[in-house]
Amino acid sequence: MKAIHPECGKKVEIYKDIIITPFYTEEFCDYLVDTAKYFDGRFIEHIKYGNDGETNDTAPWNVLHMCHISQILFEDFCGHYKKFVLPLIRKNFIVSGINAWYSPFIIKYDKTGQNVNLHNDTSGFTMNVKLNTNFEGAELHFPRQGWSNKDIPKGWCFLWPSQVTHPHEAYPLIGGTKYTLASWTHPISWSPDEQFASVYHDDIIID
Ligand SMILES: [Fe+2]
Repeated sequence: MKAIHPECGKKVEIYKDIIITPFYTEEFCDYLVDTAKYFDGRFIEHIKYGNDGETNDTAPWNVLHMCHISQILFEDFCGHYKKFVLPLIRKNFIVSGINAWYSPFIIKYDKTGQNVNLHNDTSGFTMNVKLNTNFEGAELHFPRQGWSNKDIPKGWCFLWPSQVTHPHEAYPLIGGTKYTLASWTHPISWSPDEQFASVYHDDIIID
């Protein structure tokens, strides 16, 4: 079975700093979805993006980390990303690169009405791969870019710089079960006392 789409990194569209390219073959997406279904009981609750930190029945979303399925699958993912996707990042963002990858995770949306509120990620770059299409709703929407992943084909990925410019939200799930593979890279990290000093937002009190 071939995992990487033959046109990964070759067929490319860039829209408002969102890089779009095929990543996995449809066959490999089916394999990942079947694997996710087999390990359905091993999904864990991940970050909640409810209203102002509030949680509700639809805000928590469930994830299965690729490194828990297989470490060599995770390393294989990073190898493909480095070979085919990283050159696109370097070409588009010029001096930006990637220090390291966190384990990608399969996100499952299976509750009607389940959504993710508008947020930024705490990642350097975030990449999503659409693993299936037999569901309704739950598209990922980027209001500043006026773009959604609704028409992205199965197996294609899209990636974006995560922390400021590309806030995004998942619309409510209407029906079926949606599976997405999400990848976060390490952000640029500074030790607190690097460059002499830091002041933190929450420590400044305005009268
Ligand atoms: Fe996100």
